Amino acid sequence: GDVPIDTSTLRGAAASTGRWLGAAVNTGALSDDPDYVALLVSEFGAITPENATKWGPLQPDAETWDFTVADSMVDLAELHDMRVKGHTLVWHNQLPDFISESMDPADLRSAMQAHFETTLSHFGTQIADWDVVNEALLSDGSMRESVFLSALGEDYVSEAFTMAAEYAPDARLFYNDYGIEGYNDKSTATVALVTDLIADGAPIHGVGLQMHLTHGYAPTRDELKDNIDRLWALGTVAHISEMDVQIRHLQGPESERLLAQAMTYYDITAACVESEGCEQMSFWGFTDRYSWIDTAYGADDPLLYDDDLVAKPARTAVHQALLGEPMTGCEDSRLTNGDFESGLDDWISWGGSLSTVSDPVYAGGSAVRSSERTAEWQGPVQSVLDRIGDGLLYEGTAWVRVGNASEAEVKMTLQWIDDAGEHWVPLNWVTATDEDWTELSGVVNFSDTRTTGEVVDAHLYIEGPDAGVDIYADDVSLHPVCPDTSVPVSR
Ligand code: XIL
Repeated sequence: GDVPIDTSTLRGAAASTGRWLGAAVNTGALSDDPDYVALLVSEFGAITPENATKWGPLQPDAETWDFTVADSMVDLAELHDMRVKGHTLVWHNQLPDFISESMDPADLRSAMQAHFETTLSHFGTQIADWDVVNEALLSDGSMRESVFLSALGEDYVSEAFTMAAEYAPDARLFYNDYGIEGYNDKSTATVALVTDLIADGAPIHGVGLQMHLTHGYAPTRDELKDNIDRLWALGTVAHISEMDVQIRHLQGPESERLLAQAMTYYDITAACVESEGCEQMSFWGFTDRYSWIDTAYGADDPLLYDDDLVAKPARTAVHQALLGEPMTGCEDSRLTNGDFESGLDDWISWGGSLSTVSDPVYAGGSAVRSSERTAEWQGPVQSVLDRIGDGLLYEGTAWVRVGNASEAEVKMTLQWIDDAGEHWVPLNWVTATDEDWTELSGVVNFSDTRTTGEVVDAHLYIEGPDAGVDIYADDVSLHPVCPDTSVPVSR
């Protein structure tokens, strides 16, 4: 239309790339929580009923239909110019009781016929996209046991698409599944399924990658892009259809856990906007106030807004990736006073003596000197326990030189203590001299602590030379490594 796009909203930022951005809608919240509804319609340009258009909720028994909830969602969408995706015509879960496991083929086929005809004719063009078949595959790529498979055989998928097109000729029809985001047996089987459907003449337009993620187990950005590309090469689009990111297993302060989550959101959004084949991205809800994860897996905060509907770092990250802006929040130093301009602050030394000096300095008015060292591990140390978190890659940098020796190796080390004991992980080491400053930088992956229990202590060390050698350091920093800035391709 003529209305300029407001790119300060998620829906506007997505629209500026030619994509839809959506959220699943919770039935209870829609009727009881006006703040939820207000945020939904301002930030999202597409909706998927979370449960209201599943077979069971729509047709609780053979003679009873109830479109009340679904209609209220579709009406809201129409009022606010949002696209609607119906979810889902055929699925092994949330079926009405009258669809029994032992149904014979003719009865199941006629039940499907009635379900598709009544549902699709009811909504007409109000629902533009439909998930026709959900979760038909298992992780090894074989087909999941279900009443559909046992009664109709593997062709039920193709039959369902053909039947859906008969009653919704204008809708775009999707296959939807989880665990098919990266490259694996299941996503390869999905590509084979889509290829077969197309060869059969079945009307399939796209594939939904559910994207229910646990932080640390997400596909890489490149892997996801390659996977979207292979669907696009078949002539089908990809939707990221149900994204959320679980973080309850992560350790560390909340700010770091939310930053780790935001990085995953940034990378997935970036993969979508960098892929011509990715036309829509939807989340399975949008506020931690209502998420299926809490009930299905355990109390968590997997979404873009917190329990008070306040935007989390994840929301900012999605918005930045949509606009091709760098992600913020990962570039700030996790150390206190790394340039030593205000004295020693939180710096300590376990042995030897630590002081600030005005000569030599790398930058500004002062640097730190560690002298009277009696062991190689002594030097400037700072606790980072309450400032670093699980699942993040940290980069450390410093400028170093030595005294009382013409050269010596200086290291930057992350030390932490957990149930498995004490760990010393070097970020890097360099040969420093007494003549000039040398840059010391490296990265450390502070992760996998989930297998080794609670972290009770963590420090950054500048250390290494033999006893008696002095260390000088300046401009020391430790910060999480930001994802590469997205380069959106418009559609
Ligand atoms: C979930 C809903 O969020 C829950 O409220 C309901 O109890 C069970 O179903 N994959 C899907 C969705 O395709 O339909 C599921 O939704 C989540 C996993």
